[in-house]
Amino acid sequence: MELSRATFEELRRLIHRLCGIVIADEKEYLVRHRLEPLVKKSGCSTFDEFQRKLASLDGLVWQEAIVEAITTQETSFFRDRHPFEALRSRILPELVSAAQSGKAAGNPRKIRTLCCGTATGQEPYSLAMLICDYLATRRPAGIEAADFSILATDISAAALAAAAAAKYGRRDVERGLTPAEIERFFERQGEEWTILPAVRKLVEFRRINLLQPLVLLGTFQLILCRNVLIYFDLPARQRICDQFHEMLAAGGWLVLGSAESLFGIDNRFVSLRVGDTLLFRKPG
Ligand SMILES: C[S@@+](CC[C@H](N)C(=O)[O-])C[C@H]1O[C@@H](n2cnc3c(N)ncnc32)[C@H](O)[C@@H]1O
Repeated sequence: MELSRATFEELRRLIHRLCGIVIADEKEYLVRHRLEPLVKKSGCSTFDEFQRKLASLDGLVWQEAIVEAITTQETSFFRDRHPFEALRSRILPELVSAAQSGKAAGNPRKIRTLCCGTATGQEPYSLAMLICDYLATRRPAGIEAADFSILATDISAAALAAAAAAKYGRRDVERGLTPAEIERFFERQGEEWTILPAVRKLVEFRRINLLQPLVLLGTFQLILCRNVLIYFDLPARQRICDQFHEMLAAGGWLVLGSAESLFGIDNRFVSLRVGDTLLFRKPG
C-alpha cells in the first residue's frame, strides 16, 4: 500500500507526540509495515484515508492501536545476564542492609523497584526470581519477600496483559533461563509455562506512558529502564531521567540497557562499573 511522504510525516509526528518514539527519515518502510494491517482493519483502503480517520470521532481508538503497533516488545528473561549479576552482588545486598537498618531503627520501608518499559514481563519477573533466590540462599535476618515490591510499567496494554497472565511458551523460557530456573520458578502445563505465585506476587503491573508525569508514583530505591530510552529523542530522555532523579531515594540506583548511558543526558548521577555493567547512582 502506498504511503505518501506527506502522510508519513504526519504519522511520525503523531507517533512522536503519542509515545515519544522517534521514526527516522528513512524508516517509511517501518511505518508502512507496522501500520498497514491497521489501515485495512479500519476499513480504509489507503494511508491517506486512515490519516483522515485519525481526526474523526473514533480517532482515539486508532491512535491507541498505532501505539500498540509501533512499539517493539523485544525482551527476554535475564536479558544480557550481567546486569542481574550486578544486582545480585552489589545492589541487593546494599538495599537489604539499608532495609534491615530501617527496621532496627523502627522505620520499616519496602524496597521499591520501578521497572519501566517492561514489555511482556520477563524483566520484572527476572528481578523477582533473583530476589527469591537471594532470600533463599542468603537468608538476611528480618527480611522477607513481602519487604520487596516491583512496579512494572509499559505503554502497551497488550504487552501488560501478557505480562500479568505470566504464561510463556517454550521459546521464551528457553531464551535466558537455565533448566534449573525453569524447574524452580515455573509450573508447566504442556507447552505453557506459568510463573509461580511466589514470584508473581512481588510484581504489580500498571499502564504508564513515560511522557506523562511520573513522580506521583512515589519514591524508589531502584529504577530499571532498559532498552527504552533508545527510542526517544534527547529532550524526552532528559525529561524522563530528570524524573528518575527526583523519584529515586538518596543513594538509589538506576539501571539502563547495556548500550545506554546518561552521557549528555544527566550529569547528576554517579556512574560505577560492576563487572560488565555500568550502573548509575543518585548521590546521597
Ligand atoms: C524493547 S522493549 C524493552 C523491554 C525490557 N525493558 C528489556 O530491556 O528487555 C521497549 C518497551 O518500551 C515500551 N515503551 C515505548 N514507548 C513507551 C512510552 N512512551 N512509555 C512507556 N513505555 C514505552 C514498549 O511498549 C516496549 O515494551
